[in-house]
Amino acid sequence: MANFKPRILGFLCNWCSYAGADQCGVSRYQYPPNIKVIRVMCSGRVDLAFVLRAFANGNDGVFVGGCWLGDCHYITEGNYDALSMMHLGKKLLEYSGINPDRLRLESVSASEGVRYAEIVAEFTDNLVEMGPLGSGEGMDQETLKLKLDAITNLLPYIKLVEREKLRVRFESREGYEEFFASDELNLLFNEMIVDKLAISQIMVLLQEKDLSPREIADNLHMSQSEVSKHLKAMIYLTKH
Ligand code: FES
Repeated sequence: MANFKPRILGFLCNWCSYAGADQCGVSRYQYPPNIKVIRVMCSGRVDLAFVLRAFANGNDGVFVGGCWLGDCHYITEGNYDALSMMHLGKKLLEYSGINPDRLRLESVSASEGVRYAEIVAEFTDNLVEMGPLGSGEGMDQETLKLKLDAITNLLPYIKLVEREKLRVRFESREGYEEFFASDELNLLFNEMIVDKLAISQIMVLLQEKDLSPREIADNLHMSQSEVSKHLKAMIYLTKH
């Protein structure tokens, strides 16, 4: 889209990426002015709810900057949790029809001002190619809101699943990438989250207006048999 200037919200760890961004500014390295920054004490502090709210507030991309693995300043090593959060967030976005590359996590140390500038420039270029959030996905704003609300409403459950089933620790980013692309993870995601997310979408839709199963199916691009299955599950849940 001509003249599209993406909006990016960045969550930067105080001890590394924020200092890296500061060094970038002090050294007068040039990078696109599309990013607004929120300083957090550790990348592990960035909750999925923050990411979803950033998208709901009109940001086209969300950037999380943390310390390199092994360099987190806290004994809980929050940057490992941040990696898990990002990969799970990407899967939720993807399922909802939103480009998962709109969420990006990178390690940037306090001395890597140039790296920070390069990453922001590259992320901005990527988002320009993706287009504005929603229309870039071929989705109107009403549908986008519905998809984001459906994930947000399910977050307490998703966090429980993440804590009980997906809390893994690998020593490298590649370990997380492999795990979150594995059949084992996809099976778990499908079994534990996909149906609940579909039900959450139906519930958000029905809060707005009364619709027949066929209209629900049309709105959510589901088959009528899928909608019937989810409606039966909803009725069962309300009775038990
Ligand atoms: Fe920087 Fe934890 S202190 S990621």
